[in-house]
Amino acid sequence: MIDPYGSSVLQPRFVSHRQVRLELIKEASKLPKLMMNASAAANVVMLGAGYFNPLEGFMGLAEALRCAEKMQAQDDLFWPIPIINVCKDVTAIQKSRRIALLDPNNALNQVLAIMDVDDIEPVSREQLSLMANEIFSTADLEHPGVSTFTNLGSYLISGKVEVLNFSYYPTDFPATFQTANQIRDRIAELGWQKVVAFQTRNPMHRAHEELCRMAMERLDADGVIVHMLLGKLKQGDIPADVRDSCIRLIAEKYFPRNKMLVSGYGFDMLYAGPREAILHAIVRQNMGATHLIVGRDHAGVGNYYTAFQAQEIFTNKYVKEALDINIFCADHTAYSKKLGSVVMMNEVKDHDKSDFLLISGTEVREMLINGRKPPPEFCRSEVVSMLMEHYQS
Ligand code: ADX
Repeated sequence: MIDPYGSSVLQPRFVSHRQVRLELIKEASKLPKLMMNASAAANVVMLGAGYFNPLEGFMGLAEALRCAEKMQAQDDLFWPIPIINVCKDVTAIQKSRRIALLDPNNALNQVLAIMDVDDIEPVSREQLSLMANEIFSTADLEHPGVSTFTNLGSYLISGKVEVLNFSYYPTDFPATFQTANQIRDRIAELGWQKVVAFQTRNPMHRAHEELCRMAMERLDADGVIVHMLLGKLKQGDIPADVRDSCIRLIAEKYFPRNKMLVSGYGFDMLYAGPREAILHAIVRQNMGATHLIVGRDHAGVGNYYTAFQAQEIFTNKYVKEALDINIFCADHTAYSKKLGSVVMMNEVKDHDKSDFLLISGTEVREMLINGRKPPPEFCRSEVVSMLMEHYQS
């Protein structure tokens, strides 16, 4: 199986030894406590689940600035996005060397992790904005990722974490949330060698479905893992439970048994386009995938990135050298009225734009809100019913 990113064995930060974990939970009750923001909590879940291997915790300011600018973390590790724990108030943890990190997503504000504090450093809005500009290629506060990032707070707390649970993900998504090692185990169980990963924050439209099928066939892969984002999205995007049901339906009804696995990870969408695509590749290498599909406007939002910018970044020599996972680049995929099937648009030369069924995300949303069904060529009727139910409820 493909090696994890940056080490030969995956080293998740979750404390899997039950007795040790129970002792840490006991210790945490007596430690100074820090309420994390949602972004930091999402980072903890990813560190715990092994998806951010080989990182062991949160970056300090110098490392974060360097990572944003040069995509380099400590020890010259190639890393595309700073993994930081920023908060607004550090009064409760000043001078503490060991602290408990509280989960903002849990009604009881349970302890998510214990942190060995290396440093507590002030971080200015200008520094956050500078980093945002590098990560998102814009400092525009209208960009949902930029506004979240620049409003995180004014102190950066760095150090290693020992993760004690996976927040609300295992309870809310018991069948779907999986750690990188759980996926690796499943791949080994199925004896898969060539494994395609499909990142998504959407329900499965026909284009998504066909992309998975095309990648599997063209790469002669053993299977595809639809690895959906289960965390927070911007307003208007479809909630994870609805997406989960739609994707499961497609996997069960339209793919042979054990060819499409459905899985999910606990992270919030950043909308960082190319930089996030690299992070997606690292995450998928860590879970054992040999290929990641990157299509049109991957991890994009609005008009901040060009349609294939997230593919272009993988041609960079530095990026290529760092990763073992391969990228399956897909062109804009749409239903051809001429051929009666979903195709990659650059592969059908005798077509002009009117030969394709092109419906934008906004148009689909409007149709569903107004009770009009998108055509089956765009989205399977069973999926349309599920989406309709969501929008009408
Ligand atoms: S993403 O933010 O998670 O990338 P989405 O769930 O819509 O958004 O897309 C999942 C993957 O499918 C991405 O790699 C994206 O580029 C690709 N994709 C989605 N729709 C199309 C399409 N019509 N043509 C080509 N690629 C697409």
